[in-house]
Amino acid sequence: MDSLLIKGGTPLHGEVAISGAKNAALPILAATLLTPEPCIIRRLPNLSDVRFMAQILTWLGAQVRTEGDTLRVQAKKIKGVGDYDLIRKMRGSICVMGPLLGRLKRASVSLPGGCVIGARPINLHLKGFAALGAKVVIKEGYVHASAKRLVGSAMFLGGRAGSTVLGTANVMMAATLAEGVTVIESAACEPEVVDLAKFLCAMGAKISGVGSPTITITGVKELHGAEHELIPDRIEAATYAIAAAATRGEVTLRGARADHLHAVLDKLKDSGAKIEHTASGILVRRNGTLRPVDITTLPYSGFPTDVQAQMMALMALTPGISIITERIFESRFMHVSELARLGADIEIEGPSAIVKGGKPLSGAPVMASDLRASAALVLAGLAARGTTQVNRVYHIDRGYENIDGKLRELGARIERIEEP
Ligand code: EPZ
Repeated sequence: MDSLLIKGGTPLHGEVAISGAKNAALPILAATLLTPEPCIIRRLPNLSDVRFMAQILTWLGAQVRTEGDTLRVQAKKIKGVGDYDLIRKMRGSICVMGPLLGRLKRASVSLPGGCVIGARPINLHLKGFAALGAKVVIKEGYVHASAKRLVGSAMFLGGRAGSTVLGTANVMMAATLAEGVTVIESAACEPEVVDLAKFLCAMGAKISGVGSPTITITGVKELHGAEHELIPDRIEAATYAIAAAATRGEVTLRGARADHLHAVLDKLKDSGAKIEHTASGILVRRNGTLRPVDITTLPYSGFPTDVQAQMMALMALTPGISIITERIFESRFMHVSELARLGADIEIEGPSAIVKGGKPLSGAPVMASDLRASAALVLAGLAARGTTQVNRVYHIDRGYENIDGKLRELGARIERIEEP
């Protein structure tokens, strides 16, 4: 298993190209199963999760061809069962269920287990499928959904933590081929859901209200092939923005969309970082001492849970007390004990972490536990004195394209240690 060796203390400078969004890529690739015609998806990030989704599509019977950052998919004939061994490896693959149910009126996929950040049930996905008239059965680790016909209906998809991103995506995809009108209340408003709906409409779907908590889908008989270019990855952009602030650097996020990052940029401004909108993207600069800010994670357009860990690393470096509250996932503080190994002073009180920031961090070997926690450890390592070794970086390769290469281009002293 590879690890990253980081010599800290170098301010980052320059431009970094933001890749296509992982969390738009997964449901959009799944949506290609809705039509027997060819689809072309551009600006795909070179990530293990994306390659994995391509494997799942192939397993289901689709022809998949990769040309650089473009995937050509044609799902002429497909099977309705998602293999346990494949699906269990990536939770995001649950979003093949909606397209399979929509097109074949039947779908069986292995029930995704929990993960380190939370239990992550799929009850809302299944509630939505049942509301469309599907019979849903969980048996021997698989969830089966089937229906003679899918009929549009009104449903409320809000849960313990508010809306569900992949739940909204899954039900929206199934509803595109249902009879009649479906109205999803408490729908997720994330830009990735909007990007998915844009692709579905390019395939001939009838969807309105996306980006708001009420989405209306008027079912059609069939969908056709289409081409789509993914939106930039706002979480990757936020991670590099925080890296610039953490290292007292100046970085331009080339191709990033500021309209997807309001909550993050607002908090960075509050902390004292300088944000400028340039022709090529967003410039983030830090000179001088930052101020502590409090963060509460919320569904979009609130502060994203996928940036909580990275912001905590920044607050650990910032003199003063900041309170970081995680409202989306019940156990998303795995990075706290690893940041403490670098010298951070953080206490967990229920859903909040109290960060007593400002103590200089010093390099140490640390262990990545999940995708965003590992990004936080890399950021802390870039700002720490001495050398930090981040182990198990396969977590980070799931969601960050060529992170060590991009950071080196910004002047970071980072290298990847490949285990044989
Ligand atoms: C998506 O996961 C993202 N993943 C996650 O990013 C992200 O953290 C999350 O949305 C929230 O923004 C992808 O898009 C592939 P949810 P998703 O359903 O859709 C509860 C990353 O780092 N819930 O919006 O699985 C759930 O337990 C990943 O890139 C139910 O209770 O998240 C959670 O507490 C990590 N029942 C909350 O809702 C359900 O049926 C939000 O989860 C579904 C969800």
